Amino acid sequence: MKASCESKQTGKEPPSRVKPESVGRGGGKAALRMAATIAPLGMMLFLGACGGGGGGRGGGAAATLSATGTIETVLGSFLSGVSQTEQANFVKGREAFNQTETPEDGVGPVFNGTSCSECHKQGAIGGAGDNLTVSRVTRFGAGAGANYSDLTVFGGPTLQSRSLREFDPNSPVPPETVPPEATHVSHRIATPLFGAGLMEAIPESELLKNVRTHDPDGIKGKPNWITNPETNRREIGRFGWKSQISSLTFFAGDAYLNEMGITTPNFVHDLPPQGNPALLGADTVADPEDDGEDVINFANFMRLLAPPSRANLMAADAEPAKRGQRIFTEIRCATCHVPAMKTGANASAALANREVNCYSDLLLHDMGGQLADGIEQGSATGNEFRTAPLWGLRYRKFYLHDGRAQTIEDAISAHSGEAEQPMERFFRLKQNDKSDLLAFLKSL
Ligand code: HEC
Ligand code: HEC
Repeated sequence: MKASCESKQTGKEPPSRVKPESVGRGGGKAALRMAATIAPLGMMLFLGACGGGGGGRGGGAAATLSATGTIETVLGSFLSGVSQTEQANFVKGREAFNQTETPEDGVGPVFNGTSCSECHKQGAIGGAGDNLTVSRVTRFGAGAGANYSDLTVFGGPTLQSRSLREFDPNSPVPPETVPPEATHVSHRIATPLFGAGLMEAIPESELLKNVRTHDPDGIKGKPNWITNPETNRREIGRFGWKSQISSLTFFAGDAYLNEMGITTPNFVHDLPPQGNPALLGADTVADPEDDGEDVINFANFMRLLAPPSRANLMAADAEPAKRGQRIFTEIRCATCHVPAMKTGANASAALANREVNCYSDLLLHDMGGQLADGIEQGSATGNEFRTAPLWGLRYRKFYLHDGRAQTIEDAISAHSGEAEQPMERFFRLKQNDKSDLLAFLKSL
């Protein structure tokens, strides 16, 4: 054990070579349960012996820093510095996140997935969507501004593309389709959750520091103020492609209902299929279908999930990435993709006063016509998106909110609006500067 820990920390086994854990789709419930029980135990033994489980840059006292100041960590493990109780909660939460639910558990009447990990698994459990079918969801709406509608009467704002018919061919509920009334249809690929607890723990005052009024490139940044149904408070949204949700428990309840059709104490009513309440009776499980325990488990897992560690910048071939990091700031990508923020005081010591290198301000920006999807969420307009966090970029397969880009350069070329000037500077870079910048992005 000791020896393998050391090889990790000296970077002989970079995380990119760590085999991603398989989530075993199609292996049925038993296979998923096995994966959920066996994998974390093996991992815990290994991580336990490495003093804290690794994760995060600038992190916990127990972890040994490498010469680069980063901690090599296994993608999908828990944050360094978590307590014993938190470790146990993480394992339990991960099991719930990986658990396949059935109609008997309350899935449906319409849904998009039967486990959280079905969509969040790229690189490790908790990762981004790894395909453009199941893990990419459709949103629709109509109109704009004061006349904007989520089209709830027709089954909006989210399409549920699967239904109980998958389990019972005689079920009266067909999968939903986009109604003809929709004037905007947008696809959204599942975002990665590594480091989500750190993004949640950044104080609002810290986020507001990045709102700009007089910027030479016209970069602004706008918080998406939304009402959290759990607290009834106005809070700054930070999760989702439009920063539409402010906390991980709020997102867990929302996703359990919208993606899986499972009701919880804060989301008590099933969604009427295609807006038709007469079809609700097809799901006979009493609401709330989950008493709130699963939501807490999901949130514990996501909150304690370590951020992706940086590739080893001390390696012999790391010079281009180091130069690229400077260029990233010089051409002002870093104005939105903020390299470092800090968490504040926190009930969990593992989340308190830590640097968050998520490369995002978590604010909304007008990204111009190419990316605009017309969808409004909270105070986000049809052109606005949250600066996509860039940590863990090297584990991603699809970029941008709808997964349209499969190369980093394609993702950059879609930037316009507030990002027009930095985008143009990127394409004017000399070839070797450009490849240094890309080497930097691939080290994240
Ligand atoms: C059918 C696929 C699917 C399933 C199942 C699913 N998600 Fe997601 N998830 C998504 C998509 C798509 C997004 C991006 C949504 C958006 O912003 O429009 C997302 C985003 C998130 C985010 C926001 C993270 C961030 O930083 O943006 C959280 C948190 C989350 N999901 C948690 C969950 C949990 C918990 C479950 C299980 C209850 C779950 N998801 C099940 C597809 C899915
Ligand atoms: C005005 C703010 C802003 C600036 C400046 C900016 N970006 Fe972005 N970036 C965003 C937003 C917002 C998104 C998400 C857009 C979407 O998905 O529709 C994004 C997405 C990305 C993505 C895709 C990430 C993902 O998760 O899919 C990459 C890569 C990226 N930016 C790199 C860059 C680089 C390199 C620069 C400098 C040339 C840059 N950005 C400048 C706001 C900005």
